[in-house]
Amino acid sequence: MNFPFKNILLGITGSIAAYKSIELIRRLREQGATVKVVLTCAGAAFVTPLTLQAVAGGKVYQDLLNADNELQFSHLDLARWAEVILIAPASADFLAKLSHGMADDLLSTVCLASDAPLKVAPAMNQQMWAAAATQANIALLRQRGAQFLGPAQGVQACGETGLGRLLEPADIVAQLQSSTGLLAHLHIMVTAGATREAIDPVRFISNRSSGRMGFAIAQAAQQWGARVTLVSGVVALPTPFGVQRLDCISAQDMHNTVQQHIAGVAVFIATAAVADYRPATQATEKIKKNTAMLTLTLERSPDILAMVARLQPKPFCVGFAAETQNLRDHALQKLHNKNLDMVAANWVNQADIGFDSLNNALQVFWRGGEQILPKTDKLTLARQLLTLVKQRYGCATGTR
Ligand code: C5P
Repeated sequence: MNFPFKNILLGITGSIAAYKSIELIRRLREQGATVKVVLTCAGAAFVTPLTLQAVAGGKVYQDLLNADNELQFSHLDLARWAEVILIAPASADFLAKLSHGMADDLLSTVCLASDAPLKVAPAMNQQMWAAAATQANIALLRQRGAQFLGPAQGVQACGETGLGRLLEPADIVAQLQSSTGLLAHLHIMVTAGATREAIDPVRFISNRSSGRMGFAIAQAAQQWGARVTLVSGVVALPTPFGVQRLDCISAQDMHNTVQQHIAGVAVFIATAAVADYRPATQATEKIKKNTAMLTLTLERSPDILAMVARLQPKPFCVGFAAETQNLRDHALQKLHNKNLDMVAANWVNQADIGFDSLNNALQVFWRGGEQILPKTDKLTLARQLLTLVKQRYGCATGTR
């Protein structure tokens, strides 16, 4: 996908995280963007203009009241040139300055003089981030349309742990990409992974699902600008960046979690391998092996996708169908029986695709059409599937 911005004005303010701006500039230029750097006085204490000039491939702007600069490329020229202003890192001090509309240095003046969208990636000590004054400044800036990228949670340069780390450069680039992406402003919910149905306190029924396909869809949707809620069964996967993850264990848990958070969801994609049956009763104590035979009575667990597809108004519903035979017939049956908008079917008895694998292949069906998505890695496949979803969703809602 093309990067959405060609002319990026990068403001670097006083924070130890300023060293990451060097990699950020490199990554932005890799996307084909031209980066003009405005460095504040405090920023220059952490990273030198010479280094920035070398990676940005152009002059670094520092002074407001410099007659030569103003003649060549004034603060107003910079303000007009920028398609987007990105402040990374943004210190607490600079946020305070910005929220009060001050214009006592070059960067704050350019921000005030420009109508380009403002993206802010803060970096500061966790206590400074949490301070009431900082939070009030952030609220005001958000209200005026500034978009905040991060901060991230974790160990800080000062040795403390908490919220306030600068996002990694790759994540800042991904956030810029997604802010105007294909799925911007869509709320997408994805279910993923296997559920576990307890037999007794130590045993359960489950099925083979790594959750990778659903996590890849959540990641790809987030990168294309969607607000993503990922309802996850039991998996061993990290949460994709920027995704809201809600963990569940049983089918009933997952059903309740989806029901609680479904309001406002535009697209529901069910990749979860929900256990179709669960023990009708759960033993409260561990079952002893003192009989030769043990009979478990199973009952149907709730069908989450069917529940969502019955809602009024109903989100655009995408189901998955893992099949070992008659893939086409079963997929089309599912499309009609569950009242779905799309079914993505895959063979699960072929080597190197499907369960646990890094690759997959899909055959996608909707009313009046179908498309084969040949074998590839799950993230690429997720993007191809989301492209189809966006097209069909656009047709269904008339927004395309
Ligand atoms: O009916 P079947 O289990 O084959 O349908 C598969 C699709 O339905 C998948 O998208 C799966 O995530 C979803 N499903 C569900 N709740 C269940 C069973 C399946 O959401 N209890």
